[in-house]
Amino acid sequence: MSRGPTFVSVTGRRYQLVRRPVGLPVEADFEIVSVELGDPSPDEVLVQNVYFSVDPYHREEMAELGGWELHAPLEGRTIGRVIASGVDAVPIGELVVHRKAYSTHALVTDFRRIVVPDGVPISAYLGILGGTGLTAWVGLTTIGGLQAGESVLITAAAGGVGTAAGHIAKALGAAKVVGVTGSDDKAGRLLRGPFDEVVNYRTTDLYRALTDRNIDLCLEDVGGDQFGAAIEAARDPGGRIAWVGAVGQYNDLAHPPPAPYNLFDIVGKQLRVEGYLVKDHVDQRDDYEAFMVPLVQSGQVPVEESVTLGFGHAIEALRSVLTGGNYGKQLVHLVADRRCSR
Ligand SMILES: NC(=O)c1ccc[n+]([C@@H]2O[C@H](COP(=O)([O-])OP(=O)(O)OC[C@H]3O[C@@H](n4cnc5c(N)ncnc54)[C@H](OP(=O)(O)O)[C@@H]3O)[C@@H](O)[C@H]2O)c1
Repeated sequence: MSRGPTFVSVTGRRYQLVRRPVGLPVEADFEIVSVELGDPSPDEVLVQNVYFSVDPYHREEMAELGGWELHAPLEGRTIGRVIASGVDAVPIGELVVHRKAYSTHALVTDFRRIVVPDGVPISAYLGILGGTGLTAWVGLTTIGGLQAGESVLITAAAGGVGTAAGHIAKALGAAKVVGVTGSDDKAGRLLRGPFDEVVNYRTTDLYRALTDRNIDLCLEDVGGDQFGAAIEAARDPGGRIAWVGAVGQYNDLAHPPPAPYNLFDIVGKQLRVEGYLVKDHVDQRDDYEAFMVPLVQSGQVPVEESVTLGFGHAIEALRSVLTGGNYGKQLVHLVADRRCSR
């Protein structure tokens, strides 16, 4: 056993939902409770969390039909360091990725060990090198079949998936990468990165701006009008749309936006539209890491993230992601760790 001879239990804190939010979540929808966490059992490790991920899908989980129960632990991707171990093969000090987010500490049985390469910050394993980057990779490659020389449109371009997708598309040889975002500031940052053109959907008529763009592949993250704009932009005939998510409607699942008026152009333009869930493609993680780790290590791909400091600010971070406050992957940083920076 490597739990250590002097292990004493820790008092952790975790968020739980106390009522289902209406619209944008507010602090009063949650409470923070203290939990005593003792010796891990033989298949468990006790982890002190360093970062957790705040994702748009968490808003869906809060709905009546979502997966988050009231007065119960909340799920989400997290990185933590093992502080006591009941698993012989996992010593104290190891970094693990697990799914007990919104908590300072957790006893976990379902986890993945990570060995962070030199030159890579550990937070990357929740962003560009985690499920976020993998989502972009799967959408562009397996689902979208991106070929060198093709053009790509990415909605929610300044978010976690969107920024990752921009870098991946360019690294795979895309000839042109067009982004859609909600502010001129974000547009400027995207243009200083891998994006060739960016459209601000708040100040521009998206349909008009994207009509007849002959885009080969659209990675669509928002739904509603932005899905319609992707149909408008897609190559005629034969453009592809990899549909990733619908962040524009998670705050009010009971009232989704009407279908885009040009939905039937999917037929006229002979488009291929395919939705997917990254959880069904985790077998691609090794290939993706082999592709992306050297790009991050060399600095060719920056780790783009918005980091909210302090456990007590998690709901602020969540509200930010649901209102466009973030640039890159939104994370909550709980404790300083020796491997937090490069
Ligand atoms: N299929 C899968 O397996 C999978 C996995 C991961 C993520 N996703 C989906 O991918 C999308 C992006 O996720 P992410 O984690 O990378 O989040 P994100 O893009 O970092 O954050 C959400 C961004 O969406 C935009 N946004 C927020 N509310 C909006 C609204 N009401 N209307 C339009 N845009 C809005 C904001 O950017 P602007 O300021 O630019 O508007 C915001 O920064 C989400 O739809 C998510 O559900 C799917």
